[in-house]
Amino acid sequence: MEKTLVICKPDAVERGLVGEIIGRLERKGLAILASELRLLDAEQLERHYFEHTEKPFFGDLVAFMSRSPVMLLLVVGPEGTVSVVRTLMGSTDPCQASPGTIRGDFGLTVTENLVHGSDSVESAQREAHLFFPDLELEI
Ligand code: RTP
Ligand code: MG
Repeated sequence: MEKTLVICKPDAVERGLVGEIIGRLERKGLAILASELRLLDAEQLERHYFEHTEKPFFGDLVAFMSRSPVMLLLVVGPEGTVSVVRTLMGSTDPCQASPGTIRGDFGLTVTENLVHGSDSVESAQREAHLFFPDLELEI
């Protein structure tokens, strides 16, 4: 089994798309291990997006991600789940994302692109621990 962290970003929650996103994950065959609606602060976002702190878009990213609650989802499935979720999400820029993907179907701007998914098994471990530190996970 393999787990990954999905975040329905503030735009997805504000637009009422959380059910749509969870539905797509479930219909694919993945399971939700844990979920929580949570308002993230700048410190948590600096830890989560540490690789982007020096990028020119980082200020906009933190302002966007902390403006209203996100829905955190710990998702589990077979080996390859991290990659499967990235495929379901689509390219970072929703204007480039294929139809049929979450970003391709619902997004138009690169910052407000609806959803986050861990980009590797190592990132998934780190992010799961960051957002759900009390869960004792064996996967
Ligand atoms: P994520 O980490 O949220 O799953 O997205 P990703 O891997 O597809 O893209 P990444 O390069 O990690 O970028 C993280 C998030 O930062 C925002 N972004 N804005 N204005 C820009 O040029 C720009 N580039 C990235 C997006 O919200 C992106 O998902
Ligand atoms: Mg990323």
